[in-house]
Amino acid sequence: MTRPQITTTQVGIVGGGPAGLMLSHLLALQGIDSVVVDNRTRWDIEHTVRAGILERDSVRLLVDAGVSDRVLHEGDEHDGIELAFGGASHRVDFKELTGASVWLYPQTSVFMDLADARAAAGADVRFGVTDSSVHDLTTDAPSIRFVDADGTAQEVRCRYVIGADGSRSMCRNEIPETARRQFFREYPYAWFGIICEAPKSAPELIYSHSDRGFALISQRTETIQRMYFQCDPEEDIDAWSDDRIWAELQARVALNGHTLKQGPITEKAVLRFRSFINEPMRHGSLLLAGDAAHTVPPTGAKGLNLALADVRVLAEVLERALRTGDDEVLEEYTDRALDRVWRSQHFSYWMTSMLHRHRDATDFDIQRQVAELRSVVGSRAGSTYLAEGYTGWPVG
Ligand code: PHB
Repeated sequence: MTRPQITTTQVGIVGGGPAGLMLSHLLALQGIDSVVVDNRTRWDIEHTVRAGILERDSVRLLVDAGVSDRVLHEGDEHDGIELAFGGASHRVDFKELTGASVWLYPQTSVFMDLADARAAAGADVRFGVTDSSVHDLTTDAPSIRFVDADGTAQEVRCRYVIGADGSRSMCRNEIPETARRQFFREYPYAWFGIICEAPKSAPELIYSHSDRGFALISQRTETIQRMYFQCDPEEDIDAWSDDRIWAELQARVALNGHTLKQGPITEKAVLRFRSFINEPMRHGSLLLAGDAAHTVPPTGAKGLNLALADVRVLAEVLERALRTGDDEVLEEYTDRALDRVWRSQHFSYWMTSMLHRHRDATDFDIQRQVAELRSVVGSRAGSTYLAEGYTGWPVG
């Protein structure tokens, strides 16, 4: 067997999505070296459609860390959302209720900004690797082994390994079962997501509850839109022609007074829902971040925002650990990160269960949901709770 080529760095990061790249960037700002590896190519990541809403602090982080002011020029600031139910539409005004807003800026754009910023800084980021594995995680000299895109065996030796390798994390599985606890919830819902070429149907997002099930009208640009309707997790995409999709979307929003501007559909996919948390987020010299540690259902678009919040805390504790040589400071990471994760988990669960139609729903269940929605929009306290959760709590 040929010996691997060895690279030595302070932090080895498995996963070059937004969590891994943002962490690498934040560490570099503090003078800390890292190497990032990902088994996907840059093209693969750029062409995976993900959610599009950034909380206030996520935008601040991108701008303040010097990653992107493109978000401010090309993103769209949204001061509220429409909650549509019971035959009418009600605006929840985040700005007025909390002083905060959110930005519509797709995750793929966040990724491209980060990948460009890392490349411009000459960072060591390797996409398209194969056979990656992590080693010696309970020692102070862990490593990542992989075969790079040219077919050369590689080993990254470091002080800490970060598992930012997504919901099917390889790193997470290295934590022995006796040392972790996992929390799951499956939902009987999924979203049928489309991208279409059409003008915006409304200035802000519409979350629409109806007897036919939930629909979400989101956006991408002036000419490209993103929309979803609740479907069965086993839904067959091929059974849905463009005409059938438009008829279903229109029917769900028409009941609440909205009409959609239609156009050619360029993407169709079924997104399944799941809530998951892995605790703790640290095991020895391994630390997890983003989807590797937790996933949330998409209602409320918390996934990317949680990943960015994780790495903000992680960059801070890693800097202290590396500067002082004292691992103990890493103990804070799990508690600080999971406080926000569990609150977002609840927020996503709450939005999901308030807006979706269960397959066994009775008239009572539907009317109860409408009453809950009425309580939210009819009370300043209720609307403020939604606005605070949606725009994001401060990073702990
Ligand atoms: C999206 O634009 O993809 C999006 C927006 C809001 C959500 C989920 C997804 O709650």
